[in-house]
Amino acid sequence: MHNEASHHNKIDLDRIDIYAEPPKEEPARQYYFMAKCREWVREFERKNGRRPFAFTQTFGCQMNARDSEKLAGILENVGYALSETEGQADFVIYNTCTVRDNANQKVYGRLGELNGHKRRNPHMIIALCGCMMQEPAVIEKLQKSYSFVDLIFGTHNLFKFPELLYTVYEMKGMYTMEKRHSMEKRHSMVVDIWKDTDMIVEDLPIVRKYPFKSGINIMFGCNNFCSYCIVPYVRGQERSREPEDIIREIKQLVANGVVEVMLLGQNVNSYGKNLRQPMTFASLLKEVEKIEGLKRIRFMTSHPKDLSDELIDVMKHSTKICRHLHLPLQSGSTRILTRMNRRYTKEQYIDLALRIRREIPDIAITTDIIVGFPGETPEDLEETLDVVRTVKYDNAFTFIYSKRTGTPAASMEDQVPEEQVRQGFDRLLKLVQETAREQIAKYQNCVMEALIEEVNQNDAAMVTGRLSNNTIVHIPGDASMIGRLVQVSLDQCMGFYYLGHLVS
Ligand code: SAH
Ligand code: SF4
Ligand code: F3S
Repeated sequence: MHNEASHHNKIDLDRIDIYAEPPKEEPARQYYFMAKCREWVREFERKNGRRPFAFTQTFGCQMNARDSEKLAGILENVGYALSETEGQADFVIYNTCTVRDNANQKVYGRLGELNGHKRRNPHMIIALCGCMMQEPAVIEKLQKSYSFVDLIFGTHNLFKFPELLYTVYEMKGMYTMEKRHSMEKRHSMVVDIWKDTDMIVEDLPIVRKYPFKSGINIMFGCNNFCSYCIVPYVRGQERSREPEDIIREIKQLVANGVVEVMLLGQNVNSYGKNLRQPMTFASLLKEVEKIEGLKRIRFMTSHPKDLSDELIDVMKHSTKICRHLHLPLQSGSTRILTRMNRRYTKEQYIDLALRIRREIPDIAITTDIIVGFPGETPEDLEETLDVVRTVKYDNAFTFIYSKRTGTPAASMEDQVPEEQVRQGFDRLLKLVQETAREQIAKYQNCVMEALIEEVNQNDAAMVTGRLSNNTIVHIPGDASMIGRLVQVSLDQCMGFYYLGHLVS
């Protein structure tokens, strides 16, 4: 685990608990509550002869993964030991996703198991946060049937976690003193959900999962309202971080050993539109490129409708931006794209993708595709397959349409029969696997640069690296190579990954 130091005057923030009242401004207010929580944790240690354990579980996208690093940073700051085992943890938090219904079902399933653990370990604190918590129907269900949950907060007030945690401690303290029985425990659930926010709170502690690579939020929320998608409702309106804050954070990361960053936003191509001094994503990239010591830049996600020629040009001439572009298609049928509110046509998408392939020949293009959107016919699916054949994706994530309450598509009448969806999905999957295999096989026997990320889980004598184009390669090696950029020979294509060896 790897700490990111705050640039703020550390001494002030760490001693902030000497104030009689919590400060009003952020992040000072949360540092005040972290100090308060530390007192509680010290008390726990005194009683139990050990530090309390915390377990975090992340569902969903890169955005959530980054948010979980913020949760971990706060937990570590207040004195928890981060643990890999859930059953014995004293504090468990799930950072949830609600993009498709199966994401929600997973959380309910896990909560059932967790209830068993909590029965054996009654002082366990259970918290839920993330996108799913932004849905009123979910909160209602949790309050009704999952009353053993202690704390619920949403995506807009994640920064408030220290304050909310302290509130839970105070309520727990009250319980043990008053010995309330379980019926009343339901009322002890701390719930704090904000509908939306224009706040961006900087400089809370973060514990990174990897020492050598990191995600960076460049913007929050989404204004696109694709008709199937719940993200704009649970992540709120689009807000960009100030470029100075982004650059400062990356410089700090590089000083702490990071060589690869991934700039995160639901639609990075609309970065900077709402800044005091508007700025394009391409010009932000140029600034990030200048950071000395930074070796690789990635970003997620690019909406095709906003991808500029300026961006293609910057990517083409960059030595640090990775040769990978995730360009979600969603559907290849213009009719369906219109109903999805994607704001591009099949022809515009193909033109864009082929232009990118022409300008940057070694680039990998990956995509997301939804099958079974309301009104999709077998002919519409043919159009999607046609785009896949034309663009030849290097990888594609295929999803079965999931109806999300509150989105425009949920009330569209012509939902597609399950059997047709399943058949279409299988055909699409087969085709995208074919193009991906073909694309990846092109690099057989090439020597390319890989960032070594981890020791291979199945074979301790191998390490796993990632090429600039996002392809995975396994080579003989050991843990000392983790975080290093090395030249590897791609000896044997195994379908979606390579076996190779180090080239000195
Ligand atoms: N902002 C990103 C990612 C959004 S969520 C983008 O625009 O690409 C990631 C993917 O989940 C989407 O690209 C889409 O393919 C899929 N998705 C979103 N809502 C969905 C739904 N209701 N049913 C099925 N897949 C969905
Ligand atoms: Fe959802 Fe569309 Fe926004 Fe992506 S761009 S998060 S798919 S609304
Ligand atoms: Fe899921 Fe929220 Fe990401 S809904 S995909 S975790 S933005």
